[in-house]
Amino acid sequence: MDKIVIEGAASPLRGTVTVSGAKNAALPIICATILAPGRNVLTNVPRLGDVRTVVKLLAITGADVELRWPEVVLDTTELDNPVAPYELVKTMRAAILVLGPLVARFGRAKVSLPGGCAIGARPINLHLRALEAMGAQIAIRRGYVEVECERLQGAQIAFPVPTVGGTENVLMAATLAEGVTTISNAAQEPEIEDLAALLTSMGAKIEGAGTSVIHIEGVESLSPVTHRIIPDRIEAGTFMVAAAVTGGEITLQGVEPAHLTAVVERMREAGVEVTLGEGAITVASRGPLAPLELVTEAHPGFPTDMQAQFMVLALGAQGQSRITEAIFENRFMHVPELVRMGARIQIAGRTATIQGPSTLEGATVMATDLRASASLILAGLRARGTTEVLRVYHLDRGYENLVEKLNKMGARIRRVPSELY
Ligand code: EPZ
Repeated sequence: MDKIVIEGAASPLRGTVTVSGAKNAALPIICATILAPGRNVLTNVPRLGDVRTVVKLLAITGADVELRWPEVVLDTTELDNPVAPYELVKTMRAAILVLGPLVARFGRAKVSLPGGCAIGARPINLHLRALEAMGAQIAIRRGYVEVECERLQGAQIAFPVPTVGGTENVLMAATLAEGVTTISNAAQEPEIEDLAALLTSMGAKIEGAGTSVIHIEGVESLSPVTHRIIPDRIEAGTFMVAAAVTGGEITLQGVEPAHLTAVVERMREAGVEVTLGEGAITVASRGPLAPLELVTEAHPGFPTDMQAQFMVLALGAQGQSRITEAIFENRFMHVPELVRMGARIQIAGRTATIQGPSTLEGATVMATDLRASASLILAGLRARGTTEVLRVYHLDRGYENLVEKLNKMGARIRRVPSELY
């Protein structure tokens, strides 16, 4: 297994980096190809661990898959096995996103329950309750969700919280349902808009994607398409923080600035210069950083997937910052590792209080989840001396060529086999 070694505080990052396609758009979009029998061509697909897992899942259901990264071709003509096995679902809970499409296409599905996750309980009760409201019979047997429904019916779905995965599963299922489905308090993430754009080009009738109320009028069938995946706003945000914490200046290309409004606002409040262009963002560190006060929210609020990275930004601020994690109940696993590097952070309930500026010292640290691992890389770039990040398989799930991209901008970072983990 590999580890990542960083010689920190080397030099400010400088240069240009191209952002990859979005993991959190590619995953539901690959699942959605189940709905449109035929040759679906997806471009700008990030070459990530999680994407490989969902592609394997499609292959198990019977799809023909061609991988020509960043192009992925999924021929879903001959699907015959509406099952998602535990072996795959346990590695990636987003595999639950095949549930809606499989039920809509086959009238039945057997999908393993996701099981536990480092950042929180993450139940799927809202997904199941919504499918039941659409007329599905649901049973939980031996760790699997078994769903039967001759044809899903349009329904009024009101989510108590704006769940991303729940909105995506219902959106996909409702495209082939009989009648109209309305989702209120829907999630509004850009990845949901991208999924709706794909479904609409397949022939679906959808209104309101990207807002809190979505209407879907079911149709008899959908047709295969070619679709380009949107840029990854979380990868982009991670690079923006990398520029700020190293005192550098970088330009991101192939990015959609409109997807990063809350992140840009917070960076500017902290005193970082952010210039928006057509498909580009330039970030320049301009002197001391100001403390932060932020709470994670559903889009368009501040994304929970940027919380850990902003904690490293706060470590460089002149004064005390407070970060509240309001989406997931256990998403501060990076804190004890940052404290091992000399950070001064205290946690009370869902709020972390960060003392800045903290001088970080390189150390051996352990990644615990995807975004926590990104924050440890950022801390390593800022720390004095050498940092070793273990369990980088977490990082590979969501960042494409991160080491190469950082190297190109002047970071002294490398990937080496690890004897430890
Ligand atoms: C998506 O997860 C993302 N994953 C996550 O990104 C992201 O952190 C999250 O949305 C929030 O933005 C993908 O898109 C693949 P939710 P998801 O359903 O869909 C509760 C990353 O780092 N809830 O919006 O699982 C849930 O427990 C990953 O790339 C229920 O209670 O998130 C949480 O507290 C990590 N019951 C809240 O809603 C349900 O049935 C939001 O979860 C569903 C959700």
